[in-house]
Amino acid sequence: MKRIAVIPGDGIGIEVTREGVRALEAVSRLFGIDLRIDSFDYGAERFLRTGETLPAEALDRLREYDAILLGALGDPRIPDMKHAADILLGLRFGLDLYINYRPVRLLDERLCPLKGRTTGQVDFVIFRENTEGLYVGMGGIFKKGTPDEISIQEDVNTRKGVERIIRHAFEFARDRGKTRVVMSDKSNILTYGHDLWHRVFKIVSAEYPGIEARHLYVDTLTMQMVKDPSQFQVIVTCNMFGDIITDLGAQLQGGLGMAASANIHPERVSLFEPVHGSAPKHAGKNVANPFGAILTAALLLEHLGHREEARRVESAVVACIRTDRTPQELGGRLGTRDVGDAVCGEILEPSLS
Ligand code: IPM
Ligand code: MN
Repeated sequence: MKRIAVIPGDGIGIEVTREGVRALEAVSRLFGIDLRIDSFDYGAERFLRTGETLPAEALDRLREYDAILLGALGDPRIPDMKHAADILLGLRFGLDLYINYRPVRLLDERLCPLKGRTTGQVDFVIFRENTEGLYVGMGGIFKKGTPDEISIQEDVNTRKGVERIIRHAFEFARDRGKTRVVMSDKSNILTYGHDLWHRVFKIVSAEYPGIEARHLYVDTLTMQMVKDPSQFQVIVTCNMFGDIITDLGAQLQGGLGMAASANIHPERVSLFEPVHGSAPKHAGKNVANPFGAILTAALLLEHLGHREEARRVESAVVACIRTDRTPQELGGRLGTRDVGDAVCGEILEPSLS
């Protein structure tokens, strides 16, 4: 039995998660996985109603599940996004989900904004450190609102935190037969925090002699990702740079609506969420692209050891794109639900061999 906690969240998160869950259910029925799904209402509505973002018991309750599937958080009625940060970062930090895994894989050549790229030329993964860096919220504001205001936002990097994400990138490369790992930082300028990244990368990479270890400053990396994405297999970087380059990566595969993501602790419950946000202006219109959420459900299956089932879901998405059963965002005419129907149909009866 696999127990999945679903947090649809806000905006289009609710609509795309529904399709992700339907894909999960379809493939589980087909392969005989006994799936138990419980829904949690953490998000804007609950916050506005009760003032609560992530309730105190949430982490303990969620730890009882095999995995968590989250839609998106963000609501125009809460302009500072307080609830979104509380919930999402609360889960990432509270569950110590130190690996933010974001594959960048072009599923159909027509989706790539770069000229003349084939699917095989855009196929790499990004590991973003997910529990430290500029995201820890340490710092403060002094003399707020005055001309003498001072604001400080600390970039926290620990030896343990840096080492475990870099090590994971190499372990992943070794497991998947990848031969190249790039670590990206700004150690020429961030001479304390990123000097640590630089030194730890040297030490850890020496333990993996069969894997080429290359360092790129993050500005150079963004340029190279556009110039020639085929040079990359595995990229590992800090939380803030990872946030930025995974949006760039999402675009290389057809836009934010295509990008899947996982927040992982290898030995504990992990959280799966598409890279995109809640897109309030598209919410409730049945126009959102559910592929990112469906591909995220595939990552969840893969993480739980259901590799064949995950492949089946991905192949279904590829088949829908190839046959132009796509949402408006990708130039198609289908609504969110119709795309979900098409994917479920392909899961049950693949039309392409
Ligand atoms: C992401 C998002 C989040 C982040 C926001 C919503 C807090 O942009 O998952 O990439 O910055 O990590
Ligand atoms: Mn982001």
